[in-house]
Amino acid sequence: MSISDSSHGGNIGRAAREYGLSEKQIIDFSASINPLGPAPGVYRAVTEALWRIKHYPDPGCGDLPRLLADYLGVGRENLLLGNGGAELIYILPRALKIRRALVAAPTFSEYARAVEAAGGRVRYITLPVSGTAFPAGEAAGHLAGCDAVFLCNPNNPTGQLFSPGDLMPLLDAAEGAGAAVVVDEAFMDFVAGREDFTLMPLACARRNLVVLYSMTKFFGIPGLRLGAAVACPEVIGRLKQLKDPWSVNALARVAGEAALRDESHMAETLKTVKEEREYLFSTLSSVPGLRPFPSEANFLLVDVSGTGMKSAELVEKLAAMGILVRNCANFYGLNESYIRVAVKTRPENESLVRALEKTIRTWLSGRPVFSSRLYKNR
Ligand SMILES: Cc1ncc(COP(=O)(O)O)c(C=O)c1O
Repeated sequence: MSISDSSHGGNIGRAAREYGLSEKQIIDFSASINPLGPAPGVYRAVTEALWRIKHYPDPGCGDLPRLLADYLGVGRENLLLGNGGAELIYILPRALKIRRALVAAPTFSEYARAVEAAGGRVRYITLPVSGTAFPAGEAAGHLAGCDAVFLCNPNNPTGQLFSPGDLMPLLDAAEGAGAAVVVDEAFMDFVAGREDFTLMPLACARRNLVVLYSMTKFFGIPGLRLGAAVACPEVIGRLKQLKDPWSVNALARVAGEAALRDESHMAETLKTVKEEREYLFSTLSSVPGLRPFPSEANFLLVDVSGTGMKSAELVEKLAAMGILVRNCANFYGLNESYIRVAVKTRPENESLVRALEKTIRTWLSGRPVFSSRLYKNR
């Protein structure tokens, strides 16, 4: 086992131990977090709230539900906060009594794990890795016997963004089949014009739709854990019954409040991610053997098969240089041809591109025959 076998990105502790580095030396492209970090006010709020840790957190989470409901454009009765989106993913199968689920893959692996942990079973439909058309007809054809369908929008790890128009036929078919649809919008905040793509308003009105949300990515606080579910009040009530009432800790709550009060940091984040995603896409496209896929999120899926190197090999060589990227070989529906890289700041992105160029050049120079796949993929 090595860092390339990790089931998720972001394990800088493990990478540091394996490669004899300090955690601060590592540039982490394996977890897709706001490259600017949290807003400055978040650090201040957390520091000032340290006294709170000797008390239980407020189960009502202070001003956070009001601020988040306003930001997301939903009613407070449609919102349940949790200890990261992950907590709500794990509660959902029990709350909705999901015995059999359909998962649109490749995607985040925790939907399947959560269903299986609750004693359920999972089937997959395979999404094409490029293009933005959601195969709603195919998904609808697999609904028989399923209690729920899980999909992620924009999808992790492909970065594809599906339009509400493309997803509506699936929502209608699922309603007819008595199945719930769970749409994870953990990365929706990075989408320019998110209001045109989010299904949250629909989730407030429809009984068979739940939208999952995360504050850890866009607001840059994965270490504090903060997420939410958006649904009709009846479903929110069922989720609440299964949730630890204190799962949003005192520091996460004040961090969330401060983050939502800083609109200029949000605007700067959107601008930076757009510019840097374009930079990274075009620069990686010109590295021999690499083929990035267009993405609407803050990460890019990259086909590395044109280098002749397997993803694990490339991940380990980069990790030895202090650059952590996500090996996508363990995503259902992908294989050892793919890695995922987060969009970070310009100097960090330049370091990634330099490390990739150096690694691939060294690898190719050691090969007796120049890989023909290198040219096919260009
Ligand atoms: C698609 C997706 N949903 C949810 C999560 C979990 O987010 P959180 O940190 O809010 O638990 C992740 C984490 O990587 C993710 O990629």
